Amino acid sequence: MGKFWSGFVVGILALFVAVILSAVAGIIPVATNSGPLPMERWLAKTALHAKLRSARGVLSPIPPTAANLLAGAQVYNTHCAVCHGSQPHPVTAISMGMYPPPPALWTQHGMVTDDPVGVTHWKVQNGIRLTGMPSFSGSLTATQMWQVSLLLRNADHLPASVTAALAPQPATTPPPSH
Ligand code: HEC
Repeated sequence: MGKFWSGFVVGILALFVAVILSAVAGIIPVATNSGPLPMERWLAKTALHAKLRSARGVLSPIPPTAANLLAGAQVYNTHCAVCHGSQPHPVTAISMGMYPPPPALWTQHGMVTDDPVGVTHWKVQNGIRLTGMPSFSGSLTATQMWQVSLLLRNADHLPASVTAALAPQPATTPPPSH
């Protein structure tokens, strides 16, 4: 082994030992509110983009009928709104405390997303490591995962019944009178 290679191996070993020692010494930030590690953001974004390339062309096996979109809205209200917001609460307490923050999928004009349906479906099914985005493959059916993905894909032209289902329901019992 030449001088260069032995130096290279020693360098790698030193780096490895430094990382282990930092972890053991508690120097590596593990708190959500302590900001990203060096290169964390770049690594996570680049790896995700590369992975999503093949998901872009995947089409939904079910059509965006009013019934499917309505079922998607129910999934959204139950499983997604807590992080991705709803009307009139586009930002939730949970989303404010997360790193990276869940993108607010709402503006005052309504729900937004411009991603291909296959990309959203991939994220819902698999989750996104190094973020709080969960994988729903163990908790939702295959149909439900497509229904909520169709909902986001068609967010800018939802039938009125679906928009109504996404809005908070008015209380059915009158407030107590004092
Ligand atoms: C516990 C919080 C949490 C829940 C619950 C959650 N998500 Fe997420 N989601 C995140 C976070 C955090 C990200 C950002 C990931 C990143 O930075 O790459 C994200 C990203 C996304 C994205 C990508 C948005 C963009 O503009 O890049 C989509 C789409 C999405 N989630 C859909 C959903 C759907 C649909 C549900 C419900 C079935 C859901 N999420 C439930 C936290 C959550």
